[in-house]
Amino acid sequence: MSTIVITGAGRGIGREMAGQYLAEGHRVIATVRSQEHADQLRALGAQTHFVEMTDPQSIAAFGQAVADETIDVLIVNAGIMRQRDMRFSNIDVRVFQECFQVNCIAPALLAGHLLAPVRRSQGRKMIAISSGRACISRNTTGSVLMYRASKAALNMTWKTLASDEPDIMALLIHPGRVRTSMGLPEAELSPEESASAVRKVIAESGPQHSGCFVNYAGQTMPW
Ligand SMILES: NC(=O)c1ccc[n+]([C@@H]2O[C@H](COP(=O)([O-])OP(=O)(O)OC[C@H]3O[C@@H](n4cnc5c(N)ncnc54)[C@H](OP(=O)(O)O)[C@@H]3O)[C@@H](O)[C@H]2O)c1
Repeated sequence: MSTIVITGAGRGIGREMAGQYLAEGHRVIATVRSQEHADQLRALGAQTHFVEMTDPQSIAAFGQAVADETIDVLIVNAGIMRQRDMRFSNIDVRVFQECFQVNCIAPALLAGHLLAPVRRSQGRKMIAISSGRACISRNTTGSVLMYRASKAALNMTWKTLASDEPDIMALLIHPGRVRTSMGLPEAELSPEESASAVRKVIAESGPQHSGCFVNYAGQTMPW
């Protein structure tokens, strides 16, 4: 049995990963923002914490709450996509900052606060859920600026984590295009399929994968 921390576990891919890990008998520590999501996850056997990713104090309090744990896998999954059709002529600074806060700064803070609990485990895995839209070399169409920019920054953050903390296995995973409230209705994967595939990639990952960016099938993604 492993202990898995999943952020943004109340719905979407995070919710599905939590359910699958619990069904396999693992211990899940889930972060949520609503009582409804907490109740649903607790009913499945998860331990829940309320964490607001735009609030560094909330993240620090979570770090304190799990400081004595041994965490086998941290999955930084909570993410936002805002204003897909935003134009350069009309940038909303507050919303742009929120995207960086949730998609990049919160993951960095979580990694820092959870270093000691993850170091107590054998596998020492820190996983960040990235996106194909983070790939600078594949961006031939533009649009979705705030999401792309903040996820590309997440990629650089996790790559740096892999170098700065060489005993941690820091891996970036693109979960595929998934039919969640963030994803498009015509996306090819269900949350169940994505979560199952991402979990397989995590299970099969080892120290040699630290600093890598792969997709849900374990294939290397371009930067
Ligand atoms: N769906 C796709 O096609 C796709 C593709 C590539 C990458 N991804 C990535 O996969 C991850 C999960 O996405 P999803 O599709 O499952 O999205 P989703 O259904 O919109 O779920 C997003 C999750 O993030 C949480 N969250 C958002 N803002 C937060 C905040 N300020 N503080 C704390 N939690 C917050 C949400 O919590 P609440 O319920 O409280 O709002 C929710 O649990 C994200 O990192 C996303 O970028 C998704």
